Amino acid sequence: MARLNINGQDREVDVDPDTPLLWVIREQLGLTGTKFACGVAQCGACTIHIDGIATRSCVMPVSAVAPEQKILTIEGLSPDGSHPLQKAWLAHEVPQCGYCQAGMIMAAAGLLQQNPNPSDEDINAEITNICRCGTYNRVRAAIKEAAADTTNAG
Ligand code: FES
Ligand code: FES
Repeated sequence: MARLNINGQDREVDVDPDTPLLWVIREQLGLTGTKFACGVAQCGACTIHIDGIATRSCVMPVSAVAPEQKILTIEGLSPDGSHPLQKAWLAHEVPQCGYCQAGMIMAAAGLLQQNPNPSDEDINAEITNICRCGTYNRVRAAIKEAAADTTNAG
C-alpha cells in the first residue's frame, strides 16, 4: 500500500512499490491528463510536480515519493483553468494535437517557479519536452506572456 498526497488530497493505492508513479496517477487514480509517451524520461509528456519541482513520472517508482511530499498534476494546477499559463496557452492557441501539452504546461510551471522571468535561452535550456507537432515557438511566447502576467499581478 502506498500513501500519496496528490492535488491536495491524501490517497492510498494498492500497488507494487516499483510501479511507476505515472501508472498510479493514470490507472489507479484516474487522472489521465498526464500522458505516457516514451516511458524513458526523454519526452516530458508525463511531467508532474513533486514539491514544486517538475518531474518525469514515467521513471519514478511510487515508493520513491514520501506521503508528505506534494504531488501536483495538470488537474490540480488550477481549480478553474485560470492559471496564467493556461490563459496564455489559450491566448496563443499553443496546442496542435495536444498530446504533449499537459507535460509542457507542467514543465513551464516548474520553470516559472524557479525563474519568474525566463529568456528564450532559459526556456530552450529548461523546457526539454518534445512536441512532435512543433509548437515550440508558441510555447515560448505563452511562457513569456504568463511570466509577464504573473509579474504584473505582483
Ligand atoms: S513518458 Fe515520461 S518522459 Fe516520456
Ligand atoms: S501538440 Fe502535438 S505533440 Fe505537441
